[in-house]
Amino acid sequence: MAADVPAPPGPDAFDSVLDAIGGTPLIRLARIAPRVYVKAEFLNPGGSVKDRAALAMVLDAERSGALPPGGLIVEGTSGNTGIGLAIVAAQRGYRLTVVVPDKTSSEKTAILRAYGAEVVVTPGAVPQEDPEHVRQVARRVAADRGGWLADQYDNPANPAAHRATTGPEIWRQTHGRITHFVAGVGTGGTVSGAGAYLKEVSGGRVRVVGADPEHSVYSGGDGSPYLVESIGHYRHPDTAEDVWPRSYHRGVVDHVEAIGDRESILTARRLAREEGLLLGASAGTAVAAALRLAARSAPDALIVVVVPDSGRSYLSKYYDDGWLLRLGFPVGHAAGPTVADVVGPLPAPPPAVPATASVGEALADRHPAALRPVGPRRPGSPPGSLSVAEVTGTLDVAELRRLVTAGTARPADPITAHVTDPLPTIGITESPAAARARLGTREAAWIVVDGRIAGSLRNGQLG
Ligand SMILES: Cc1ncc(COP(=O)(O)O)c(C=O)c1O
Repeated sequence: MAADVPAPPGPDAFDSVLDAIGGTPLIRLARIAPRVYVKAEFLNPGGSVKDRAALAMVLDAERSGALPPGGLIVEGTSGNTGIGLAIVAAQRGYRLTVVVPDKTSSEKTAILRAYGAEVVVTPGAVPQEDPEHVRQVARRVAADRGGWLADQYDNPANPAAHRATTGPEIWRQTHGRITHFVAGVGTGGTVSGAGAYLKEVSGGRVRVVGADPEHSVYSGGDGSPYLVESIGHYRHPDTAEDVWPRSYHRGVVDHVEAIGDRESILTARRLAREEGLLLGASAGTAVAAALRLAARSAPDALIVVVVPDSGRSYLSKYYDDGWLLRLGFPVGHAAGPTVADVVGPLPAPPPAVPATASVGEALADRHPAALRPVGPRRPGSPPGSLSVAEVTGTLDVAELRRLVTAGTARPADPITAHVTDPLPTIGITESPAAARARLGTREAAWIVVDGRIAGSLRNGQLG
């Protein structure tokens, strides 16, 4: 070819999948709330906002020499950061081990394995200091095998990724007209990084709102479990010192909105049906916070809310009616009576009895329920609000009272000898027939409303 003939242009393409990270569209909630725009992070190649942080953390570790060529990447994650790291690892020639808490959806662990990552599952509901805690296991695996711990919770490259990319994209996409920025708070990287940029560039005009599951400690909750994955901060009752991630810069956030599991899940389901957006439950939390904000803000407000991932990772949970009904959430099912109809109005939920209580302490309060769940009582918990995830046993206080009267049990005795296994659970929204089938020959069950113990029923009550 003659020297002055230009080479034909190459294909109009990214050089690798890594170049496809970021640059996600902003989509108006045209039907539900036209002043609210979602930043569609589920359109990243790994399916979540976390691709951004994963890429930034690896590039940073390469630059600092912390991650040598061909090295091992280790991370504790609720799944999405692991998926982002798996993509970067595949493209740049690293091995990857991810440690996930046991509440992580089966879809996410299957995706991680599909990318060739090693997955270690560890209990989620343990104190931060416990050797089995996700972050402790990840630290140990990295130390034992000479790996590099990405450590999204404390790695400054995580919020920096959002300051450098997510924030500027939103500013450009709204032509500087954004008034409110809403993001769920997990590690805090998204809300802190993008929020700081948007505040700076707007001269402090943009208000930054964190969306948090009710009960999470970020919004002042008791730290007890909730069902939405990947955001919030759980606190085990035995935690000695509750340490928050350094990726969460609290000073950036003007307000944290607490959203209950029911509202988060139902909002996510509504977005699928009314906007054609199939999203995860943390997107439901963030959009629910944005909808509350839209209802109380000026008509010229322009609210941008990050929707972190797709509902495809949660088909077995938030989009499975059976799963939701067993936890007592109100989702559509065939017409007919529910457990609520056959048991009638419930008294106040039975307070939990701590496993360490004495017989006298267990009998001290005069709540009428004969059966009590055994589990932690947390300072600041509303009375009787115990998550099904924290029930460790059952105490028949009516029987115990009889034993004390008969002199067979003494008030100073520990309750341990009288605690039996946790009862099966029945959702208040289930059909009595489904509940009866699952109960089988068991005599009693906990009635569950929105994932929390609301009372108990005897088998015969189901008809
Ligand atoms: C689905 C989902 N939503 C929200 C978040 C929270 O983002 P961040 O860690 O930046 O606070 C994450 C992070 O893991 C996530 O995976």
